[in-house]
Amino acid sequence: MKKVFSVVMTIATAASLFAADIDLPAPQTSGGMPLMEALSKRKTDRKFSADKQLTLQQLSNLLWAADGFNRPDKLTIPTARNSQEIILYVLRPDGAYRYDNRANRLIQVSTENLNPASSMQDFAKTCPLNIAIAYDTTKMPMERFANNDAGGVMQNIYLWCASEGINTVVRGMVPPDLPKLLNLPENEKILLVQTIGYE
Ligand SMILES: Cc1cc2nc3c(=O)[nH]c(=O)nc-3n(C[C@H](O)[C@H](O)[C@H](O)COP(=O)(O)O)c2cc1C
Repeated sequence: MKKVFSVVMTIATAASLFAADIDLPAPQTSGGMPLMEALSKRKTDRKFSADKQLTLQQLSNLLWAADGFNRPDKLTIPTARNSQEIILYVLRPDGAYRYDNRANRLIQVSTENLNPASSMQDFAKTCPLNIAIAYDTTKMPMERFANNDAGGVMQNIYLWCASEGINTVVRGMVPPDLPKLLNLPENEKILLVQTIGYE
């Protein structure tokens, strides 16, 4: 019995060592630049450092701004019929992750650096952070509405970046094989990818 227990514990420990999900720190939901100033600074900029990465705290704040809960059951973005169909995939050098906005956690979906595969444009291939904005077609079957909801995410990311002095560009041009590389289920579709990083 003792031996069985020890084998189970060894397997459990090994599994936890390989599990590469990331618990994000709680988002900081106050402070930042005044809204009118952030709107004045909102812009597209395609210059990105290949080395300098956002901290996990910044990533948590960014994802919360993009699609986090700001009330017990509602989001920072409005969604048609409150469908809450948007799903964010975070592409980092250490792998790709699905943002679980309820648990404030990144669930690993690939161990590959998919940043180079996320774009036909060179600036995005070397940038260490791209975020794919996808949606769940079972929650919102009408792509027109999902596009509008993704627009809210995109603009929240733009405003957060303006507030932090970080560059960003949203991209509608997305390689067709990215959903497969991200292991997206059949019911999820990518609408946009946003490149985010320091100059
Ligand atoms: C839906 C959408 C798709 C876009 N797709 C791309 C793209 O694939 N590649 C790119 O470099 N910029 C893309 N852009 C960025 C636009 O070129 C940019 O927003 C526009 O030139 C205006 O500049 P501004 O954002 O600084 O106001 C896209 C913007 C939007 C809103």
